[in-house]
Amino acid sequence: MKDKDAFVVTIDGPGGSGKGSLALNVARELGFHLLDSGAIYRLLALKALQQGGDLGDEKQVAGLIDEFNIRFEAGDELSVPYLDEVDVSAELRLEATGDAASRVARHPLVRERLLSLQRSFFKPPGLVADGRDMGTVVFPKAKFKFFLYASVEIRAQRRYKQLINMGLSANIAHLQADIAERDERDQNRSASPLKPAEDALVVDSSLLDLAQVTNLVLSHIRERQSLQPV
Ligand code: C5P
Repeated sequence: MKDKDAFVVTIDGPGGSGKGSLALNVARELGFHLLDSGAIYRLLALKALQQGGDLGDEKQVAGLIDEFNIRFEAGDELSVPYLDEVDVSAELRLEATGDAASRVARHPLVRERLLSLQRSFFKPPGLVADGRDMGTVVFPKAKFKFFLYASVEIRAQRRYKQLINMGLSANIAHLQADIAERDERDQNRSASPLKPAEDALVVDSSLLDLAQVTNLVLSHIRERQSLQPV
Protein backbone atom coordinates (compact mmCIF):
# COMPACT_ATOMS: atom_id res chain seq x y z
CA MET A 1 0.00 0.00 0.00
CA LYS A 2 1.30 3.48 -0.87
CA ASP A 3 1.82 6.05 1.94
CA LYS A 4 -0.93 8.25 0.52
CA ASP A 5 -3.38 5.35 0.90
CA ALA A 6 -2.79 5.07 4.66
CA PHE A 7 -6.03 5.28 6.64
CA VAL A 8 -7.42 5.31 10.16
CA VAL A 9 -9.79 2.79 11.76
CA THR A 10 -11.44 4.05 14.96
CA ILE A 11 -12.85 1.74 17.62
CA ASP A 12 -14.76 3.51 20.38
CA GLY A 13 -16.91 2.18 23.17
CA PRO A 14 -17.34 1.95 26.92
CA GLY A 15 -14.78 0.33 29.22
CA GLY A 16 -14.95 -3.47 29.23
CA SER A 17 -16.66 -3.74 25.84
CA GLY A 18 -13.61 -5.60 24.52
CA LYS A 19 -12.46 -2.81 22.22
CA GLY A 20 -8.83 -3.00 23.42
CA SER A 21 -8.44 -6.66 22.39
CA LEU A 22 -10.38 -6.00 19.20
CA ALA A 23 -8.16 -3.03 18.28
CA LEU A 24 -5.03 -5.13 18.90
CA ASN A 25 -6.32 -7.95 16.67
CA VAL A 26 -7.38 -5.61 13.87
CA ALA A 27 -4.07 -3.70 13.98
CA ARG A 28 -2.12 -6.97 13.80
CA GLU A 29 -4.18 -8.33 10.92
CA LEU A 30 -3.84 -5.14 8.89
CA GLY A 31 -0.20 -4.56 9.93
CA PHE A 32 -1.22 -1.12 11.26
CA HIS A 33 0.02 1.00 14.17
CA LEU A 34 -2.10 1.03 17.32
CA LEU A 35 -3.19 3.91 19.54
CA ASP A 36 -4.56 2.94 22.96
CA SER A 37 -5.78 6.42 23.90
CA GLY A 38 -7.04 5.20 27.29
CA ALA A 39 -3.40 4.40 28.15
CA ILE A 40 -2.50 8.05 27.48
CA TYR A 41 -5.16 9.27 29.94
CA ARG A 42 -4.03 6.62 32.41
CA LEU A 43 -0.37 7.74 32.07
CA LEU A 44 -1.35 11.35 32.65
CA ALA A 45 -3.41 10.33 35.69
CA LEU A 46 -0.44 8.36 37.08
CA LYS A 47 1.81 11.39 36.64
CA ALA A 48 -0.71 13.59 38.46
CA LEU A 49 -1.01 11.03 41.29
CA GLN A 50 2.79 10.70 41.58
CA GLN A 51 3.06 14.46 42.00
CA GLY A 52 0.32 14.46 44.61
CA GLY A 53 -1.66 16.86 42.43
CA ASP A 54 -5.37 17.61 42.51
CA LEU A 55 -7.05 15.62 39.71
CA GLY A 56 -9.92 18.10 39.72
CA ASP A 57 -7.62 21.08 38.97
CA GLU A 58 -7.87 21.46 35.19
CA LYS A 59 -4.96 23.90 34.73
CA GLN A 60 -2.65 21.93 36.98
CA VAL A 61 -3.34 18.63 35.17
CA ALA A 62 -3.08 20.27 31.72
CA GLY A 63 0.24 21.81 32.80
CA LEU A 64 1.68 18.31 33.28
CA ILE A 65 1.38 17.76 29.51
CA ASP A 66 4.28 20.25 28.93
CA GLU A 67 6.69 17.75 30.44
CA PHE A 68 4.82 14.59 29.55
CA ASN A 69 7.49 11.99 28.75
CA ILE A 70 5.82 8.79 27.59
CA ARG A 71 6.54 6.04 25.10
CA PHE A 72 5.32 2.56 24.22
CA GLU A 73 7.77 -0.23 23.47
CA ALA A 74 6.76 -3.28 21.45
CA GLY A 75 6.35 -6.27 23.81
CA ASP A 76 5.61 -9.99 23.24
CA GLU A 77 1.86 -9.57 23.62
CA LEU A 78 1.02 -5.99 24.56
CA SER A 79 3.22 -2.93 24.21
CA VAL A 80 5.02 -1.76 27.33
CA PRO A 81 4.15 1.75 28.55
CA TYR A 82 6.88 3.98 29.96
CA LEU A 83 6.38 7.13 32.02
CA ASP A 84 9.56 9.18 32.53
CA GLU A 85 11.49 6.12 31.28
CA VAL A 86 9.99 3.82 33.96
CA ASP A 87 7.96 0.74 32.96
CA VAL A 88 4.52 1.35 34.52
CA SER A 89 2.60 -1.63 32.99
CA ALA A 90 1.40 -2.93 36.36
CA GLU A 91 0.19 0.41 37.80
CA LEU A 92 -1.48 1.35 34.52
CA ARG A 93 -4.01 -1.49 34.54
CA LEU A 94 -5.17 -0.96 38.15
CA GLU A 95 -8.85 -0.03 38.62
CA ALA A 96 -7.71 2.97 40.66
CA THR A 97 -5.67 4.26 37.70
CA GLY A 98 -8.67 3.82 35.37
CA ASP A 99 -10.80 5.74 37.82
CA ALA A 100 -8.21 8.54 38.09
CA ALA A 101 -7.93 8.58 34.26
CA SER A 102 -11.64 9.21 33.89
CA ARG A 103 -11.28 12.16 36.29
CA VAL A 104 -8.45 13.84 34.36
CA ALA A 105 -10.22 13.03 31.06
CA ARG A 106 -13.18 15.24 32.00
CA HIS A 107 -11.19 18.46 31.56
CA PRO A 108 -11.66 20.13 28.14
CA LEU A 109 -8.19 21.75 28.28
CA VAL A 110 -6.56 18.39 28.95
CA ARG A 111 -8.39 16.77 26.03
CA GLU A 112 -7.49 19.61 23.70
CA ARG A 113 -3.84 19.51 24.67
CA LEU A 114 -3.62 15.76 24.08
CA LEU A 115 -4.99 15.99 20.52
CA SER A 116 -1.72 16.46 18.64
CA LEU A 117 0.02 13.72 20.64
CA GLN A 118 -2.78 11.28 19.75
CA ARG A 119 -2.83 12.33 16.08
CA SER A 120 0.94 11.80 15.83
CA PHE A 121 0.33 8.03 16.06
CA PHE A 122 -1.10 8.08 12.52
CA LYS A 123 1.71 6.96 10.21
CA PRO A 124 1.77 4.74 7.12
CA PRO A 125 0.55 2.13 6.51
CA GLY A 126 -2.27 3.17 8.88
CA LEU A 127 -3.63 3.32 12.41
CA VAL A 128 -6.19 1.56 14.56
CA ALA A 129 -7.23 4.00 17.30
CA ASP A 130 -9.05 2.75 20.37
CA GLY A 131 -10.88 5.01 22.83
CA ARG A 132 -14.01 6.99 23.55
CA ASP A 133 -13.80 9.90 21.08
CA MET A 134 -11.56 8.58 18.32
CA GLY A 135 -14.25 8.73 15.64
CA THR A 136 -16.01 11.85 16.93
CA VAL A 137 -13.14 14.20 17.84
CA VAL A 138 -9.59 12.92 17.37
CA PHE A 139 -9.97 11.36 13.90
CA PRO A 140 -13.31 12.69 12.58
CA LYS A 141 -12.26 11.88 8.99
CA ALA A 142 -11.31 8.26 9.75
CA LYS A 143 -12.15 5.91 6.89
CA PHE A 144 -13.70 3.26 9.12
CA LYS A 145 -15.44 3.88 12.42
CA PHE A 146 -16.75 1.27 14.81
CA PHE A 147 -18.53 1.63 18.13
CA LEU A 148 -18.43 -1.46 20.31
CA TYR A 149 -21.24 -1.87 22.79
CA ALA A 150 -21.93 -4.49 25.48
CA SER A 151 -24.42 -4.34 28.35
CA VAL A 152 -23.22 -3.39 31.85
CA GLU A 153 -24.17 -6.89 33.11
CA ILE A 154 -22.11 -8.65 30.43
CA ARG A 155 -19.12 -6.35 30.96
CA ALA A 156 -19.24 -6.97 34.73
CA GLN A 157 -19.34 -10.73 34.14
CA ARG A 158 -16.32 -10.55 31.79
CA ARG A 159 -14.34 -8.48 34.29
CA TYR A 160 -15.33 -10.87 37.08
CA LYS A 161 -13.96 -13.85 35.13
CA GLN A 162 -10.74 -11.96 34.33
CA LEU A 163 -10.14 -11.13 37.99
CA ILE A 164 -10.95 -14.67 39.19
CA ASN A 165 -8.61 -16.11 36.53
CA MET A 166 -5.90 -13.78 37.83
CA GLY A 167 -6.44 -15.31 41.30
CA LEU A 168 -8.04 -12.13 42.67
CA SER A 169 -11.29 -11.86 44.57
CA ALA A 170 -14.20 -10.01 43.00
CA ASN A 171 -17.80 -9.10 43.62
CA ILE A 172 -20.18 -8.91 40.66
CA ALA A 173 -22.47 -6.31 42.24
CA HIS A 174 -19.55 -3.99 43.02
CA LEU A 175 -18.08 -4.42 39.55
CA GLN A 176 -21.43 -3.64 37.97
CA ALA A 177 -21.81 -0.49 40.08
CA ASP A 178 -18.25 0.67 39.22
CA ILE A 179 -18.79 0.12 35.50
CA ALA A 180 -22.11 1.97 35.56
CA GLU A 181 -20.51 4.87 37.45
CA ARG A 182 -17.61 5.14 34.96
CA ASP A 183 -20.07 5.02 32.01
CA GLU A 184 -22.09 7.79 33.59
CA ARG A 185 -18.97 9.97 33.95
CA ASP A 186 -17.78 9.25 30.37
CA GLN A 187 -21.19 9.78 28.77
CA ASN A 188 -22.24 12.89 30.60
CA ARG A 189 -19.11 15.04 30.56
CA SER A 190 -19.35 18.16 28.43
CA ALA A 191 -16.04 17.60 26.60
CA SER A 192 -16.06 14.75 24.05
CA PRO A 193 -18.65 12.56 25.77
CA LEU A 194 -18.72 8.88 24.93
CA LYS A 195 -21.10 8.42 22.00
CA PRO A 196 -20.99 6.76 18.58
CA ALA A 197 -19.94 8.95 15.65
CA GLU A 198 -22.85 9.46 13.23
CA ASP A 199 -21.04 7.44 10.59
CA ALA A 200 -19.91 4.65 12.95
CA LEU A 201 -20.99 1.05 12.64
CA VAL A 202 -22.37 0.09 16.06
CA VAL A 203 -21.55 -3.50 17.01
CA ASP A 204 -23.24 -5.13 20.00
CA SER A 205 -20.66 -7.56 21.34
CA SER A 206 -22.85 -8.82 24.22
CA LEU A 207 -23.46 -12.18 22.56
CA LEU A 208 -20.32 -12.40 20.38
CA ASP A 209 -16.86 -13.59 21.34
CA LEU A 210 -13.66 -11.74 20.41
CA ALA A 211 -12.97 -13.87 17.32
CA GLN A 212 -16.48 -13.21 15.98
CA VAL A 213 -16.23 -9.44 16.53
CA THR A 214 -12.75 -9.37 14.97
CA ASN A 215 -14.03 -11.22 11.88
CA LEU A 216 -17.00 -8.92 11.56
CA VAL A 217 -14.83 -5.79 11.67
CA LEU A 218 -12.14 -7.14 9.34
CA SER A 219 -14.70 -8.36 6.80
CA HIS A 220 -16.36 -4.96 6.81
CA ILE A 221 -13.00 -3.25 6.14
CA ARG A 222 -11.77 -5.73 3.54
CA GLU A 223 -15.01 -5.76 1.58
CA ARG A 224 -14.71 -2.02 1.12
CA GLN A 225 -10.96 -1.88 0.80
CA SER A 226 -10.24 -5.09 -1.11
CA LEU A 227 -7.25 -5.52 1.20
CA GLN A 228 -5.68 -8.92 1.27
CA PRO A 229 -4.87 -10.56 4.63
CA VAL A 230 -1.28 -9.73 5.63
O1 C5P B 1 -10.06 2.68 28.00
P1 C5P B 1 -9.51 2.90 29.38
O2 C5P B 1 -10.29 2.21 30.46
O3 C5P B 1 -8.04 2.60 29.47
O4 C5P B 1 -9.65 4.47 29.64
C1 C5P B 1 -9.50 5.02 30.92
C2 C5P B 1 -10.35 6.27 31.03
O5 C5P B 1 -9.81 7.29 30.17
C3 C5P B 1 -11.80 6.11 30.57
O6 C5P B 1 -12.68 5.74 31.63
C4 C5P B 1 -12.17 7.46 30.03
O7 C5P B 1 -12.67 8.28 31.05
C5 C5P B 1 -10.85 8.06 29.59
N1 C5P B 1 -10.71 8.07 28.13
C6 C5P B 1 -11.26 9.13 27.45
N2 C5P B 1 -11.09 9.24 26.11
C7 C5P B 1 -10.44 8.29 25.42
C8 C5P B 1 -9.89 7.17 26.09
C9 C5P B 1 -10.06 7.08 27.46
O8 C5P B 1 -11.88 9.99 28.05
N3 C5P B 1 -10.28 8.44 24.11
